Amino acid sequence: MIPDETVEQVRAAADVVAIIGEFVPLRRSGGSWRGPCPFHQGKNPNFSVTPSTGTYHCFVCHESGDVFTFVRKRLGLDWPAAVKLVGEKAGIEVVDVPRGRPVEDPLARHHEALTAAAEWFMRQLHEAPGSDAARAYLASRGLDEAVWQRFGIGFAPRDAQALGRYLASLGFDETLQLEAGLSMLRDGETTARARFRGRIMFPIHDEIGRPVGFGGRALGDEQPKYLNSAESAVFQKRRTLYGLHTAKQAMRRERRAIVVEGYLDRIRLALAGIEEAVAPLGTALTTEQAQLLVRYASEVFLLYDSDEAGQKATFRSGLELLQQQATVRVVSLPAGEDPDTFVRAHGAAAMTTHLQDAIDLFDRQLQLIARRGWFGDLRHARLAVDRLLPTIVAAKAPLTRALYLARLAETSGVDRDALAREADELERAVQQRLTPQRGAPQRGASGRAQRDARHADVSMSDGPDAGDAPFPERDVEAEAPLPPPPGEQRPPYRGRRGQQGPQWKVTAIPPRPRIDDPIERALVRAMLHERGVAERVADKGFPPDEFASEGYRDIFRVLLEAKPDAGFDAIAAELTGDSLRLFVDLTEASQLAPEAVDVELSIKKLIVRRIDDTIGELERRANESEDEGERAMILREKQALVKERNSVWPRWGGRTNKR
Ligand code: UTP
Ligand code: MN
Repeated sequence: MIPDETVEQVRAAADVVAIIGEFVPLRRSGGSWRGPCPFHQGKNPNFSVTPSTGTYHCFVCHESGDVFTFVRKRLGLDWPAAVKLVGEKAGIEVVDVPRGRPVEDPLARHHEALTAAAEWFMRQLHEAPGSDAARAYLASRGLDEAVWQRFGIGFAPRDAQALGRYLASLGFDETLQLEAGLSMLRDGETTARARFRGRIMFPIHDEIGRPVGFGGRALGDEQPKYLNSAESAVFQKRRTLYGLHTAKQAMRRERRAIVVEGYLDRIRLALAGIEEAVAPLGTALTTEQAQLLVRYASEVFLLYDSDEAGQKATFRSGLELLQQQATVRVVSLPAGEDPDTFVRAHGAAAMTTHLQDAIDLFDRQLQLIARRGWFGDLRHARLAVDRLLPTIVAAKAPLTRALYLARLAETSGVDRDALAREADELERAVQQRLTPQRGAPQRGASGRAQRDARHADVSMSDGPDAGDAPFPERDVEAEAPLPPPPGEQRPPYRGRRGQQGPQWKVTAIPPRPRIDDPIERALVRAMLHERGVAERVADKGFPPDEFASEGYRDIFRVLLEAKPDAGFDAIAAELTGDSLRLFVDLTEASQLAPEAVDVELSIKKLIVRRIDDTIGELERRANESEDEGERAMILREKQALVKERNSVWPRWGGRTNKR
């Protein structure tokens, strides 16, 4: 007997189009795939496979079923053999256990311990005298008892031993508690302590509804705001989507999925009757999460916070989804809102309207670029096309790609075929970068395409034109997953520093505020003398937001957004207060001695400064982290950065705190 759970797991993980596609030549047709029916040996594409439901159907002979039915009928297999075969293809081990014998799932006890813990946390929230503050906090966020119940929200008291004692009384020993991520052992200590203390607990489930971990929110401004379970055999962030187990039905029903940033956003939407939303546990979707989503819905709405981080995550997630052949739409919320605050302030109906107004990812990018007048002159149009090509290359659905190409041709005035050739070259260049073992020394691809491949690299990771910061993010994370070659599996991606993508948000570290930074001052002077410098600096990974002195940042921003022929007066008109005074000061004739500014050298200094800031931040996080494994990872990351810094600036040898 194969446990139902396993069957469901296999069904959920199986790519029905890929599996049936091994026997039937399928072509995409809207939300489904068509081909000649293998059952009545049809010649016309009357046989349809629908990934969102995981089923197939022939409109002529009416054969229908799911992935298991298909392999049974097609290969004449019995039930267990069919499940095993599909499991093999889906990468899930299927163990056939004799009826009556207990099912051997190596993680079954972990799930049980996590279930017991979740119930205990809920009870604490209701009963424990120490949880008044937690109850008050939830009430202040508009979440009443019915909501706690529905989403399993609980509270982890400050007591470091209470949960451990309770679980031990149920027979879950310390090793198991450690493995389930509920407790941890600090350096040199012999007694384990609770991982979550004094936090509101949101249980996180896997696709089939088993608890795998928790997100624990601080009650106040403590850091981190959210502490998640540590990575383990049961809890794998990159494959987990908060709320998926309940959202998946709604996704199939509504034929769309919605991605939001936070736990509370997901909860708020569900309360508003919009149940097809999930939250990734970082900010941008991973490849695995994108793959999970498209199994349920081919159309995905990205509903991120309206801040800059949200916009970056939007485009990064969008590219992952395009590679999975999803249709991607972007919902823009008013400044300062996230879905939670928006629904609370404006109600469910307003949110529904916003969702209806969502526009295609590519249109959103076009809109943002057009808004700055980039299609107005040749030089900028060239840049705009460069920024948009990566999105076209990411779009793996042929129809989507064709639509994007047509749209870009129309907007930019560049010939469609020329764009298509560039997209192909870029794609080839990207593939060659991904598969160096082939040793193909960039044949076929022109120098331009090679340059673009580097460019694509950066844009892929950040999303071109993320709102008001349409520029590459940070060099430290410039090497993002790239589109896999067609028909090939994506090779396992190793970051520049040879590890899987970091779990923490190095990229989200803002520059340390500086009052009057001499590097930035020099660069702004050069920008004022020669407008191209502003774009050059931004393109090197230092958009205005990376500037740490407010005044220089403002001037830089205005320069970038200004039409290339805008005079100093027009620029001054966009500035106010201290920034304006600084600008007037800088534009005094005596200040405009640009030959004194070495732009490349200044950029190099910014890179070093950023790496140093990041190193400092990682050190801080390592000190704060209570998780051994996490700390080790952070320190490895730091080591790699130190190396990188030394390679950027070899003369500096060791670490220095001078900035
Ligand atoms: P946000 O900071 O936007 O969280 O981070 P939020 O959901 O709006 O938080 P509230 O409304 O203030 O409670 C979005 C998501 O990023 C992850 C969490 O999954 C969070 O829901 N996150 C954020 C962390 O894992 N750790 C953090 O320290 C912060
Ligand atoms: Mn938020």
